[in-house]
Amino acid sequence: MGRVAELAGVSVRTLHHYDDIGLVRPSARTSAGYRAYSAGDVERLREVLAYRRLGFGLREVADLVGDPSTDAVAHLGRLRGLLLERRDHADAMVAAIDRELAARARGLKVTPEEQLEMLGARLYDAIGGAYTATRRTDPRIAAQISDALGDAHTVLNVGAGTGSYEPRDRQVTAVEPSAVMRGQRSADAAPCVAAAAESLPFENGSFDVAMAVSTVHHWRDPMAGLREMRRVARRVVVLTFDTDEPGWPDRFWLTRDYLPEFASLLAEFPSLAAMANAIGARAEPVPVPWDCADGLFEAYWRRPAAYLEDHVRRAMSVWTRVGQEAEQRAVQDLTADLASGRWAERNSALAGLAAADLGLRLLIT
Ligand SMILES: C[S@@+](CC[C@H](N)C(=O)[O-])C[C@H]1O[C@@H](n2cnc3c(N)ncnc32)[C@H](O)[C@@H]1O
Repeated sequence: MGRVAELAGVSVRTLHHYDDIGLVRPSARTSAGYRAYSAGDVERLREVLAYRRLGFGLREVADLVGDPSTDAVAHLGRLRGLLLERRDHADAMVAAIDRELAARARGLKVTPEEQLEMLGARLYDAIGGAYTATRRTDPRIAAQISDALGDAHTVLNVGAGTGSYEPRDRQVTAVEPSAVMRGQRSADAAPCVAAAAESLPFENGSFDVAMAVSTVHHWRDPMAGLREMRRVARRVVVLTFDTDEPGWPDRFWLTRDYLPEFASLLAEFPSLAAMANAIGARAEPVPVPWDCADGLFEAYWRRPAAYLEDHVRRAMSVWTRVGQEAEQRAVQDLTADLASGRWAERNSALAGLAAADLGLRLLIT
């Protein structure tokens, strides 16, 4: 028991207590006849301690680990999701704190509402306010999405945000979990339901098509969300990102030369092949036009000075997620290389290109 307590980082008293209340009972015996933890007991103890660390009460934990329909893999999946949610929440809180520190440093007053906002902040609740400055529909990307929607009449737009790429000529229902993003939808936009992709509140086959644009990488569980889309709609259209090719971070000079941290943000993201498989889709490249109207992360590949603009970066979640230090370094390096001509020298091949394949892909079933 002492050894297990030491490895798990809890007191022997805690283990006794779990034994007394029947939460984790050591079921094996040592050669001297003392009770000992079997591999199965250790697995259960690990689940109990992980849920406890996430703030669940003992009774809730007992219900969670006592559920016979949830096996070890399902528990790990659930714990992973809860931890990622925490991480996103922490990212959003850090972003909110940075904003408040910057405001205070400039001698600005911070309202009580702004102070409280930080506590309830989710990533898009924290950064969503800056979104509308540069994020809007690019007509060429919209045309490609519209072609992929085919003759669908009823469309579900998952992770809809403010409604870019939502077709106007079809019957659309939007799904968006962030209150800040929902609040920025125009009055004549499609009706929007507060929900997340992983658990869509619709019956099987309710829509002709479910679409999702530039959102899957934000989902707690992308594969579960994609399966949900497949469940509620007869077809699925998803604009996402390809990380299958080795060396993919080198496709775009911004990640190659200035922001290598971008790669680690997508380290856990499923492969394009796995996502395509999950919904039975084919993948089509989505070239980014040189004058892309939607200020997405790759939009300014031929207009590098745009990345030096604060309001441009604030509408791209990448910069919040890599953190202030990496952001400042990238901006400083790019500023220097634009001034010295080094950027132009390295990227001379881009000068005449009308569009670039930077890894955006449309999955279509
Ligand atoms: C980059 S925005 C894209 C919005 C819109 N689709 C567009 O193309 O402009 C990502 C959106 O995904 C939403 N989102 C984050 N987690 C989500 C989840 N689990 N399910 C559905 N949407 C989610 C965010 O709140 C945000 O509005």
